[in-house]
Amino acid sequence: MKKDFLKFQAQTSPHPLAMQVSHAKGSYIHDSEGNAHLDFVAGVSACSLGHCHPEVTKAIKDQVDKYMHVMVYGEYIQEPPVAYTKLLASLLPPSLETTYLVNSGTEAIEGALKLARRFTGRSQIIAGKKAYHGNTMGSLSLMGLEERKGAFRPLIPDISYIEFNAPSDLGEITQKTAAVILETIQGGAGFIEPSNGYLANVRKRCSEVGALLILDEIQPGFGRTGKLFAFENYDCIPDILVMGKGMASGLPVGAFTASHEMMSTLQDNPKMGHITTFGGNPVIASAALATLKCIVESTLMADTLAKEKYVRSLLKHKFIKEIRGKGLMLALIMESSEIADFLILTAAKRHLILFWLLFETKAVRITPPLTVSLEELKEGCDTILEILNDYRQ
Ligand SMILES: Cc1ncc(COP(=O)(O)O)c(C=O)c1O
Repeated sequence: MKKDFLKFQAQTSPHPLAMQVSHAKGSYIHDSEGNAHLDFVAGVSACSLGHCHPEVTKAIKDQVDKYMHVMVYGEYIQEPPVAYTKLLASLLPPSLETTYLVNSGTEAIEGALKLARRFTGRSQIIAGKKAYHGNTMGSLSLMGLEERKGAFRPLIPDISYIEFNAPSDLGEITQKTAAVILETIQGGAGFIEPSNGYLANVRKRCSEVGALLILDEIQPGFGRTGKLFAFENYDCIPDILVMGKGMASGLPVGAFTASHEMMSTLQDNPKMGHITTFGGNPVIASAALATLKCIVESTLMADTLAKEKYVRSLLKHKFIKEIRGKGLMLALIMESSEIADFLILTAAKRHLILFWLLFETKAVRITPPLTVSLEELKEGCDTILEILNDYRQ
């Protein structure tokens, strides 16, 4: 199977981990050789309720038995996306009322950018340096790192950059700016939280000049930082909220939310300002609805903060220089990228799943399912410490 995988399935890197999956349940992925791997990555923050959560699989099966795709987005009234967007609105500030459901995080970013340009009539978009918002042309255009995007130029024009957490850059936001787009917590850059009221200051500056604030919550959203959305931790409400990843606990999905008035501009002039065949798919919306209900009707969000505390108390080692992030969105910042690589690759051999971050080479990602138990956290952290004790410089 590995030969076929490398030959017929297009690859994203020359060195995929290439574990052959048999099945997955809870916090474990089982490989075809019978090994159980403790999952500290959760499909890169996507499997928020762990693998094959019974409420989610039931919702999917029930919906599959009724109907699957019946029409392109937005034409027919289908209960799952209506119920989902209504529940989401009840959990968000009143200005974030109307949600457009799409197929992935990057498509949601594209939708948010189009909405910002359409609503403001301006073109400039300002992004954070070292941000990651996805890999389609618009999202890629927002990426500050030339080495990751140069080969695909020309990209979309009128994009500028500000340093995340630098108040001195806020003057770059002017009356020409359609929107500032930021990750609420910078992910690929190393799980960097906004500090010293940074997001509230960006919000204030945007309001002063009539620019929109778009927050990308694709990674920290849906309970991972102890709140439903990370912006709730930082005294800042965006004009457009972008979601994805953990939203449907493992099915492909994305969404962007704004006021009803703003979102209505996508309907007209031009008509169908954004269209998608599968967005709002009823099976995926059912999984998203079951996921959201489980998160808000349980203690999972509050538990996330207790679990963060526990991980921080366990993971003390001379090679771990810092633990960044919040809740179960944590990054170990190692003394060197060699130690980060050693830890991730040795952990894989010992059936503990860890992973890299996109741009911070010294970082090791710890983003387990929100449902991970304290015993599982202890098991994984013990393995991490044993591996680091074995490291010879
Ligand atoms: C912050 C952030 N934005 C956007 C994306 C893109 O999402 P997707 O891979 O679903 O297109 C990601 C994915 O890693 C992300 O972490």
